[in-house]
Amino acid sequence: MEKYIVQKPINEIMLNCKKQLSIIINKIIVKQIEGSPMKKLCLWAAFILFAASQIVWSQAGITGSAHDFSGQGWGTTEICQPCHTPHNADASLTDAPLWNHQTTTTTFTLYSSSTLTTTTIGQPDGSSKLCLSCHDGTVALENFGGTTTGTHFISGEHNLGVTLANDHPISFIYNTALATADGGLFDPATHTTSLGGTINNDLLIGGKLQCASCHDVHNHYNNPSLLKISNNGSMLCLTCHNK
Ligand code: HEC
Ligand code: HEC
Ligand code: HEC
Ligand code: HEC
Repeated sequence: MEKYIVQKPINEIMLNCKKQLSIIINKIIVKQIEGSPMKKLCLWAAFILFAASQIVWSQAGITGSAHDFSGQGWGTTEICQPCHTPHNADASLTDAPLWNHQTTTTTFTLYSSSTLTTTTIGQPDGSSKLCLSCHDGTVALENFGGTTTGTHFISGEHNLGVTLANDHPISFIYNTALATADGGLFDPATHTTSLGGTINNDLLIGGKLQCASCHDVHNHYNNPSLLKISNNGSMLCLTCHNK
């Protein structure tokens, strides 16, 4: 939970509001306990409706997520803008829909290990390069829409840095051949995920494993850490690894 550097205070205020409001409502209910059972029932119904309406504060989607920069000093009230633009986008990149953010030029140190089966890990490509354009800590967050002189950089554990040797490998091909050669991986062409499709359809991008295999930048699934599949009980890991 310590990850919510900026959001944490907001979430805490929201939680406190909710607590205060439910205390007030509970007091009203207690006062009415002497009243008719129907009155009591109505008040409980009102309380349940009220509680349900609070769910809006933890809704899926960018708004209120770690990628909602509208409350930041450097941000903009247009929440898509730090990443996308309808016009004059950077069309030089692959898998970068209407991209608006300055991209990283870092040459990364890649993951390697003697037990690794894949031989296709290369410099981050596709949408992973877009993530690293904020998450490697070399490009300022507000460097979008042509700005190149920003001064706010990603910090703490959100900054993966320029070495990816200590991160799960990305930007490599994960196919049936790799699964067979490795022995400890499910076949991405046939094994299904909790999202309903195959690993290939649900988690790979052009047959490759990328940051976006595990994360959803738009917080569509509303899991902690913007994960596509919750990692409770290592569920995410066990979607691909047959361990
Ligand atoms: C923090 C950066 C970021 C923000 C903010 C953001 N996006 Fe994206 N978006 C991306 C990245 C990266 C991709 C490509 C990778 C992917 O789809 O996971 C993408 C892909 C897309 C795509 C194409 C793929 C798809 O998911 O349909 C659409 C459409 C899109 N974004 C719309 C939006 C809209 C609309 C907003 C604002 C409400 C928004 N995005 C906010 C980073 C962002
Ligand atoms: C415009 C810059 C930008 C881009 C592009 C971007 N991020 Fe982020 N991301 C951030 C910032 C800033 C934070 C930290 C926000 C905070 O301090 O709460 C963050 C937070 C996160 C978190 C932590 C969420 C949490 O709840 O703890 C994850 C995971 C993440 N980003 C993944 C990605 C992935 C994957 C991509 C690409 C598909 C991506 N980001 C693209 C700026 C960006
Ligand atoms: C194989 C799955 C996987 C891939 C690929 C992956 N992540 Fe993550 N990431 C996770 C999980 C799981 C967590 C939550 C870790 C935790 O709670 O301890 C996480 C956490 C994060 C966080 C929150 C800070 C932290 O360290 O806990 C950020 C930021 C992040 N990832 C960004 C990225 C970026 C950028 C990429 C691509 C360069 C990426 N991730 C690739 C699974 C993945
Ligand atoms: C989308 C599928 C997928 C998910 C989800 C995933 N992995 Fe992986 N992981 C792979 C593939 C494919 C490799 C490459 C294996 C190889 O070539 O040896 C890999 C590599 C690794 C390696 C390096 C193996 C080595 O021999 O050096 C470790 C460790 C690992 N994953 C752990 C995890 C953990 C922990 C999680 C959950 C946080 C996770 N993975 C989630 C597909 C996935």
